[in-house]
Amino acid sequence: MTDETPRTPSEPTLFDRVGGMDGIGTLIQHFYHAILSDPELGPFFDGASMERIRRMQVELFSAALGGPVQYSGRPLIHAHQHLHLERTHLQRFVDHLMDTLKGFELSDDERYDIITRINLYADDVLGSAAGYG
Ligand code: HEM
Repeated sequence: MTDETPRTPSEPTLFDRVGGMDGIGTLIQHFYHAILSDPELGPFFDGASMERIRRMQVELFSAALGGPVQYSGRPLIHAHQHLHLERTHLQRFVDHLMDTLKGFELSDDERYDIITRINLYADDVLGSAAGYG
C-alpha cells in the first residue's frame, strides 16, 4: 500500500458544462435571437454582420468559461464605442443571457457564475474602463 492520494478527475469547466463549442454555439444562437427580437436592443445591430458577431461571441464565451479557445476579435472597447451604449442596455442584454441560460441544464450557481464572467466585460463595452477609482 502506498500513501499516494488518489487522483481526482478535474472538475468540468463551465465551458464543458454548457456543452463545449457546440453547446456555446447553440447558446449564442438562442441568445442573439432574443437580443434581435428586443425592440430596444435589436436596432443596434442594423447593418452589423451577425455571422461575425456570433462567431466572435462563441470564441469570447468559450474563453471566458474556461474553454481551450482564444478570442480573435477586436478589443471590445473598439467594437462598441460608436454605439454609445448605456448601462440599461447592458442590463437588458444580461437579462436575455440569464433567460437563455434557463433553457440549459445548469445549476443556478453555474448560471450566476456565467453572468459574472460575462459582466467582467461591461466596462469595456460601455467605454467606462477609465472610471475606476
Ligand atoms: C458584456 C457584454 C457584451 C459583450 C461581451 C459583447 C461582445 C461582442 C463581440 C465579441 C463583438 C464582435 C467584435 C468583433 O467584431 O471583433 C461585438 C460586436 C457588437 N456588439 Fe457587443 N457585446 C456586449 C454587449 C453589447 C450590447 C449591450 C450591444 C447593444 C445592444 C452590443 C452590440 C454590438 C454590435 C452592434 C456589434 C457589432 C459592431 C460592429 O461591427 O460595428 N454589444 N460584441
